[in-house]
Amino acid sequence: MTSTEQRDRPILVKGADLLGEGATDVLVVDGAIAAVGADADQHAPTGTQTLDADGLVALPGLVDLHTHLREPGREDAETIETGSRAAAVGGYTAVFAMANTDPVTDTAEAAERVVDLGQRAGYVDVHPVGAVTKELAGAELAELGLMARSRARVRVFSDDGRCVHDARVMRRALEYVLAFDGVVSQHAQDPTLAGRTACCHEGELSGRLGLPGWPGVAEESIVARDVMLARHTGSRVHVAHASTAGTVEVLRWAKAQGIAVTAEVTPHHLMLTTDLLTTYDPVYKVNPPLRPAEDVAALRAALGDGTIDIVATDHAPHVRQDKEHAFTDAAFGMLGLEQALSVVSTTMVATGAMSWADVARVMSTGPAAIARLRDQGQGLVVGAPANLTLVDPTREVTVDAARSASLSRNNPWHGHTLTGAVHLTMLRGLVTARKGLTWGASDV
Ligand code: DOR
Repeated sequence: MTSTEQRDRPILVKGADLLGEGATDVLVVDGAIAAVGADADQHAPTGTQTLDADGLVALPGLVDLHTHLREPGREDAETIETGSRAAAVGGYTAVFAMANTDPVTDTAEAAERVVDLGQRAGYVDVHPVGAVTKELAGAELAELGLMARSRARVRVFSDDGRCVHDARVMRRALEYVLAFDGVVSQHAQDPTLAGRTACCHEGELSGRLGLPGWPGVAEESIVARDVMLARHTGSRVHVAHASTAGTVEVLRWAKAQGIAVTAEVTPHHLMLTTDLLTTYDPVYKVNPPLRPAEDVAALRAALGDGTIDIVATDHAPHVRQDKEHAFTDAAFGMLGLEQALSVVSTTMVATGAMSWADVARVMSTGPAAIARLRDQGQGLVVGAPANLTLVDPTREVTVDAARSASLSRNNPWHGHTLTGAVHLTMLRGLVTARKGLTWGASDV
C-alpha cells in the first residue's frame, strides 16, 4: 500500500477526549467528520483504520493568526514548506503568513503566490496577511481591495514588524476593510517612544544592564488610539502580540464599550520574563520585548477571562548570522509554532486557569473567526472538515532546539520541560504530523 492510499482511508479516532469533556469516537470519511459518538463505528465503511486515541484530548485543528514564513526573500531562515511542517508538528492546520517578506505581500499576485506555495507544501492551509501600506512604508495604502477579491481572499491586513503609526493612514485602512469585513492587525508600538536603538523592555533592569529599552506606554498609547479609531470607523481592529498590563486595561475598557477590538498574546509573553536578559542571550530578543512578571500575570488573567481573545505565535525564524550577535545588534524574534500548544498547556491548563475547551477557543475557533475562515475552527461536529489535533495532556517534553522542522534554531524553549504535547495533526482527514514528525519524515 502506498502512503497516500493509507492516508486517504477512512479513520476511526477511538476514545478521544473531545475538548476534554468526555471520551468518544470520531469517524473521518473523505476528509470530513462523518460521525461523532460511541456508535460512530457503525457508520464506518470497510477498510476504515482505527486510531487509538485513548487518553488523548481532541481539539479542532489549531489556527495561527501570526506567523513569519520568510518566503519570498529569506528562504535560508524558513520557507513556506518548512514553516508549514513546523506548524503541522505544532498541531496547526492553518497559519497566517505575515507580509514582511521580500518582496512584501502588498499585491494580489504576491498574496496568491503564498497560497499556491502553501498548497504545494500541503501540510497546513497557508493564508497570506496583506500589508496595510505599500512596502510597509506606512504612507500609502497597499492594494487592500485587490488582495481581498483575489483568489487569496485576504481578510487580515498588517504591517507587522512595523506600526501603522500615522493615525490618518490607520483610519483610512480601517474604513477600507469594512467593505469586505476585513480586520487590521496592528503592531502597536509608537516609533517616537520606542526609538531606533531600543532592544528590550525599559525598566530598572535595562538600566542596570546598559541596554536601551522602550516603555510599555509605547504599545499602550497606540492600542488606546486604535480602539478609538475602531469606534469612530465602526471597523475591526486586532491587537497583535499584546504584552503589557496597561494594554489589557485598555482592551477591557474598549470591550466593555462594545468596540470591535480583538487581541492576541504570544506563548513567549505568557511564560518568559525580562529577567532572562541578564544572560544577554539574543534568543530572548523579541519585539515587543519580554516584560516583567506583573505583565505576564496580567496577560494570563486576560487570556483566562476572555479580554485577550486568542494565542498567536509570532513565529519569527532567523538564521544564526542574524541572531547570534551582541544583544543590541541581533535580530528581533523567536520560534513559536512547534511549542505553542505545550506552552499554553503548561501555563494555562496545568495551572487550572483554562480548560481544553478554552484552548480550542483561543487557538482554533477564535482565530478562525477573527480571520473569517469558513473551513477551519468549526469544531468537531458532523459535516465539518476533519481538521483535528490530538494532544497528550500529560506527556512531558524537554525541548531540544536541534530537533525542529523549522529551518532556524532561535528557539527560546530549548531545555525547558513542558507539560502536554501535540500527538497528531490531521488536515481534512490526512495525517500531517505525528509525535514531532511530519508526513514524509515518518510512517505516520
Ligand atoms: O520579534 C519580532 N520579529 N517581532 C516582530 O514584530 C517581527 C518579527 C520578525 O519579522 O522577525
